[in-house]
Amino acid sequence: MQDNKVHIFDTTLRDGEQVPGCKLDTHQKLIIAERLDFLGVDVIEAGFPVSSPGDFNSVSEIAKIVKNATVCGLTRAVENDIKVAAEALKHAKFPRIHTGIGTSDSHIKFKFNTTQDKVIERAIGAVSYAKSFVEDVEFYAEDAGRTDNAFLAKICEEVIKAGATVLNIPDTTGYCLPEEYGAKIKYLREHVKGIEHVILSCHCHNDLGMATANSIAGVINGARQIECTINGIGERAGNTALEEVVMVLKQHPYLDLHTNINTKLLYDTSIMVREKMGMPVQPNKAIVGANAFAHSSGIHQDGVIKNRETYEIMDPKEVGVTESAIVLTARSGRAALAYRAKKIGYELTKIQLDLAYTSFLTCADNQKEVKDDDIHSIMKSVNQISKIAIA
Ligand code: KIV
Ligand code: ZN
Repeated sequence: MQDNKVHIFDTTLRDGEQVPGCKLDTHQKLIIAERLDFLGVDVIEAGFPVSSPGDFNSVSEIAKIVKNATVCGLTRAVENDIKVAAEALKHAKFPRIHTGIGTSDSHIKFKFNTTQDKVIERAIGAVSYAKSFVEDVEFYAEDAGRTDNAFLAKICEEVIKAGATVLNIPDTTGYCLPEEYGAKIKYLREHVKGIEHVILSCHCHNDLGMATANSIAGVINGARQIECTINGIGERAGNTALEEVVMVLKQHPYLDLHTNINTKLLYDTSIMVREKMGMPVQPNKAIVGANAFAHSSGIHQDGVIKNRETYEIMDPKEVGVTESAIVLTARSGRAALAYRAKKIGYELTKIQLDLAYTSFLTCADNQKEVKDDDIHSIMKSVNQISKIAIA
């Protein structure tokens, strides 16, 4: 079972869509699902079919059109949820039911007011029932991040016996440290009978900003699926960002782990999701933020102009961004001004550049960013003093 492929399970349309304001209609979901399939994700979690007729319909329509990926529907460990999910997934080429229950002391006591034994019973019942509809059944141990490892191992072993094919170990509250989460996965690999026959899955939330680090710690310790969303959208501080984990694995080849994602489609997919969900991405967001490949300080710009690799660990083209941006601000130096001026047609001599740079700094001190139009104006005034070659 253990190979070097990390399966990418996208939950943009389920965990991501739970975010207030991100609600999509079926048509919008179909467009995103098609794009995810094209991007190369292995699993699309299309929704939570029992939650509303609209969600049922979306899952059912997505199941009909997805060509390559497994289509998955979420359920609680409740028979009716599972029956409804199976119905919604009936046209899927590769259907998966994702069922589970809270396993931490806090969930067992406050959510269910029950005992560990009863939770195990419900988990076995849910997986067995799901198995009567589909072969591929994923079990989630909600709040596994705060669940005692020995109990987690016990419930995992029981659901494997009941037929689970994938075990999802969610850090539902985003509490774990990467070392701790990695150790949890390792513990399960070492203590659960039958674990070699299933895929262990990381589902990490970002409450402390560690979702990506935790997911990577998980796969380093033997998990082979990461549950994630485009742009990291999701409950509260969000889920693991798909583009981040995919690029971490790509940029660290010595880890010897790979995904099926066509990384050149990452940027466009990010734009599509932010537009459809009305959920902007912060400019400094890794991989897909507006500034992810923009350089604004003089020292960095000088380096990047000489050789991109001085300040970039990946080629923007690898993620579908056309080129690195040199943003002109009051912190920019002569090299950046000459570079930008050349791009818009001005080949400057040393003296011309000195003259232009003085005007440039005056302009830059008065505004946040110096644009091409400003450079044209600067060049016009410099041209009156000195004849500038216009290429
Ligand atoms: O965060 C979580 O625990 C979940 C489960 C329902 C899989 O989203
Ligand atoms: Zn979640």
